[in-house]
Amino acid sequence: MERTFLAIKPDGVQRGLVGEIIRRFETKGFTLVGLKFLQPTKELAESHYAVHKERPFFPGLVEFITSGPIVAMVWEGDGVIASARKMIGATKPLESEPGTIRGDLGINVGRNIIHGSDAPETAQNEIALWFKSEELVSWQPQM
Ligand code: CMP
Repeated sequence: MERTFLAIKPDGVQRGLVGEIIRRFETKGFTLVGLKFLQPTKELAESHYAVHKERPFFPGLVEFITSGPIVAMVWEGDGVIASARKMIGATKPLESEPGTIRGDLGINVGRNIIHGSDAPETAQNEIALWFKSEELVSWQPQM
């Protein structure tokens, strides 16, 4: 079964959007298999965003992600990686469609509420970076 890594960023936590965001993935039908509330270290943030290392916004991005607590999650379900990206919306909230998390709840690219893995390999790497295997719970909702 496919898994993806999602993180509610410091702005999402500060704005009290944690429940709203988790509700969207639960009601969609995906299964929560990992959940952690933490303030990331600089080292963890730099590893997570290593692909953006040369971008001008990288130092500000790391500073922001480490500025307060975040909610790190692993969600499971058929097609969850692409579906979660659709539910999250485009990187720039002003370009995100209404109905998406960023389209409904944000306006600022540097404060775009939530991160979601963009592909299977990234998801695998990000899950391994943020969670130990024993912190993930395999379970099936009884429908
Ligand atoms: P995320 O999906 O977490 O992946 C990289 C992040 O860089 C992105 O969301 C934005 O929050 C952040 N970012 C900050 N500034 C920019 C920018 N100018 N262009 C793209 N991404 C940016």
